Amino acid sequence: MDTLMLTTGWLVWAIVAFFALRGLWRLLRPNAALDLSGRWIVVTGCDSGFGFGVVQRLIGRGAHVVAFCFTDEGAAQALAAGARLAPRLDLTDRQAVGAAAAEVRQACGDQLWGLVHNAGTVLPGFVEYQPLSFYERVMAVNFLAPVHLTQKLIPALKSARGRIVLVSSVDGIVSLPGNAPYDASKFAIEAYADALRAELSFWKVSVSVINPSTMRTPLAMTFFEGHRKAWEQMDRDDPDGPWKQAWPADWLDTYIAENTEALQRIAQDPRHAIDDIVHALGASRPDLRYLSGTLSKTLFLALWKMPERWSLAIKKGMIRPAPRLGRD
Ligand SMILES: NC(=O)c1ccc[n+]([C@@H]2O[C@H](COP(=O)([O-])OP(=O)(O)OC[C@H]3O[C@@H](n4cnc5c(N)ncnc54)[C@H](OP(=O)(O)O)[C@@H]3O)[C@@H](O)[C@H]2O)c1
Repeated sequence: MDTLMLTTGWLVWAIVAFFALRGLWRLLRPNAALDLSGRWIVVTGCDSGFGFGVVQRLIGRGAHVVAFCFTDEGAAQALAAGARLAPRLDLTDRQAVGAAAAEVRQACGDQLWGLVHNAGTVLPGFVEYQPLSFYERVMAVNFLAPVHLTQKLIPALKSARGRIVLVSSVDGIVSLPGNAPYDASKFAIEAYADALRAELSFWKVSVSVINPSTMRTPLAMTFFEGHRKAWEQMDRDDPDGPWKQAWPADWLDTYIAENTEALQRIAQDPRHAIDDIVHALGASRPDLRYLSGTLSKTLFLALWKMPERWSLAIKKGMIRPAPRLGRD
């Protein structure tokens, strides 16, 4: 018995020492910043938020940036900031994306250093009132569009031994209530990233995933108000459906008001995600995953790793006020 206890004790200490030394090594080993000047980098979703912040940073480091934008104003802003090209398109338009990718390959002479899939959309709502078309739109923008653009640019990334950065979310590791289409799209992009990373490792193309928690951007700050879109759509499609007993209009108003207030308190500066995206492009050894923001490194890391029954209880508690329960 004594020998068993002693061996177990030594084993525990050995494991602790191993992780401590590994952490120290990771902290101390040199991870120099590369010179990005003259390197071609494509960034999507550059009209606002993380995208425009990353464009400004990369231009500051001398990179040749191609800023994919959704609007004319976004494209004009990116060009004014110094982007080499600013194709204006809807990333779900396959023809337009094909043409823009060909333009990029020509401009960079098939030597593309970076591809940042940053564009994204969110259409929140609880599953009982979430229209199917919302799942289709979110999957098209957040999942299929990056898959398509990557495929078009792989030859240029291979020849430059470049980097692909996929902006996922904490929702890509922990699925949260009230946001199923977005969660599904971000889980899908995580699965895609894992396969892509292994396949492209033969050509030394690295693939990094960014998991930001809530930060102050247009997408995040209008999140709870966004529930109204799904609710109103379901109200038009099925005005007298049983869904409305659980999720009535007065519940929706309270839900949006209370949670928007909480959101204002927790949202962080977007620079946390911007720093990590730029690190993935510009460090000599990029990380495979970046948990960006305080909540990502704490609450969401814990929710990701803890037993599922515990995380279920916490997620249930996040639906405040709770839906109205019927008598059945
Ligand atoms: N902010 C956060 O708290 C947070 C947290 C986790 C993950 N993220 C992720 O971070 C990424 C950047 O988001 P953000 O927070 O910086 O929000 P944002 O400012 O709204 O940026 C998203 C960008 O994507 C563009 N976009 C949307 N649909 C598009 C389409 N079909 N074609 C082309 N462009 C399109 C938007 O254009 P318009 O502005 O013209 O619509 C916008 O420029 C997203 O992938 C998001 O899921 C954000």
